[in-house]
Amino acid sequence: MEDKKINIMAVLSITALIMFIIIARVSLKLSRAFFLIAGAGVAIILAVFACLLIRRRYNDRRKLLETKMVTEGRELRIEYSFLRKVAGVPTKFRPGELEEATNNFGVLLGKGSSASVFKGIISDGTCVAVKRIEGEERREEFRSEVAAIASAQHVNLVRLLGYCCVPGGPRYLVYDFIPNGSLDCWIFPAGGRGSSNCNRPSGCLSWDLRYKVAIDVAKALSYLHHDCRSRILHLDVKPENILIDEKYRAIVADFGLSKLMGKDESRVVTTIRGTKGYLAPEWLLENGISEKSDIYSYGMVLLEIIGGQRNICLIENGRDRSKSKWQYFPKIVNEKMREGRVMEVVDHRLIESGGVDEKELKRVVYVALWCIQERARLRPSMPSVVEMLEGRVTVDEPPDTQMSIVDFLSVDEGPRAIGRNRPNIITLATQVDSRNYPPSSTCSYPISIVSPR
Ligand SMILES: Nc1ncnc2c1ncn2[C@@H]1O[C@H](COP(=O)(O)OP(=O)(O)OP(=O)(O)O)[C@@H](O)[C@H]1O
Ligand SMILES: [Mg+2]
Repeated sequence: MEDKKINIMAVLSITALIMFIIIARVSLKLSRAFFLIAGAGVAIILAVFACLLIRRRYNDRRKLLETKMVTEGRELRIEYSFLRKVAGVPTKFRPGELEEATNNFGVLLGKGSSASVFKGIISDGTCVAVKRIEGEERREEFRSEVAAIASAQHVNLVRLLGYCCVPGGPRYLVYDFIPNGSLDCWIFPAGGRGSSNCNRPSGCLSWDLRYKVAIDVAKALSYLHHDCRSRILHLDVKPENILIDEKYRAIVADFGLSKLMGKDESRVVTTIRGTKGYLAPEWLLENGISEKSDIYSYGMVLLEIIGGQRNICLIENGRDRSKSKWQYFPKIVNEKMREGRVMEVVDHRLIESGGVDEKELKRVVYVALWCIQERARLRPSMPSVVEMLEGRVTVDEPPDTQMSIVDFLSVDEGPRAIGRNRPNIITLATQVDSRNYPPSSTCSYPISIVSPR
């Protein structure tokens, strides 16, 4: 625009000067004054031409430099984002960038109790999963998630690439996209009670892959509990929060409920958080929780991996709802294991396709039953679980457990649960207390973040 104005002004002034010289020629004839005016006019015209030429050259060079800088800047940005990624430093995104990356949040990958996750591609071509956390009350979850995952780097943990905060609006977390979705779609039969979220990649994982997934998750938790600068408790270990990558490796995700714990602390006191069916009894009984609560949830997930079914389900009895019964899978596994009929608890689809190694199965069942011991101190640590699953140490037969409190912690509240003679929270707490649990078990927990399944 500026250039155009200057060019017009130059043309106008040159035209005016020429006109002036012509008028001078007519009125002054070939006098000395005319030659003086004509000389000055021509000099000015030449000067204007010279200025235009210099300006044009200067502009060309500037444009060249600008394009060079833009290209270099883009390359630098890509390189910078690559270096940040390698160093594990999350990038701050602008809301517009995320809208563009996700095509205006067009492809939903999954929805949990606190967030929706969308597929996207960011400017350097990386495929990402953008988690949108709505609501001011979820601010704490956003913080926990960033605090926990930003400092953790492990092949079996999802990688945080960036974040974005809109004042008063939603918060976003940008993760590596994990193409095969979550574990629930790979262990629970499609359309069954367990498969809530399965319009995504799904199938029936073979026994070998299930065993590998079990080890991967154990390694991730072992890293969080023992190898990070501060101990990280995940506190929401369940199949929906375990993702499966293109090589069928398990990737632990969703750190929204996680808690950082000093290495010298043995317990932390916090509000009940997690998902029914995976909550350890100490949430109700003891004064604080520890990494052993994650180990309990992990044991529950192991059982679901083995059985291909949710640990707790309601067995309907025809039309008569009053005759429906809650079936608690861990109890069945415990009984079958003691009767030496452990093969009967495996996902029947795996039995049909063959390939279940009975020795491995027995090992996983033992490990799972050790992990879900009601007394937290009896549960093995995550590094020992890895060793046991990898067959480097032998696993002893786990002690028999009553599993009375777990019933309560597992069952979904709701109209279907009413009138099923389920014990209430206080009764259970006293029952278990009387079996020598520490007297610290008060029931004044502010129940805050417990998701139904
Ligand atoms: N990185 C990812 N790649 C692919 N899919 C993902 C990714 N992260 C999450 N998902 C999908 O989105 C779903 C919900 O994500 P996430 O568990 O993080 O949300 P949430 O609201 O915190 O869940 P919760 O109900 O456990 O609190 C997951 O179960 C999974 O199917
Ligand atoms: Mg989740």
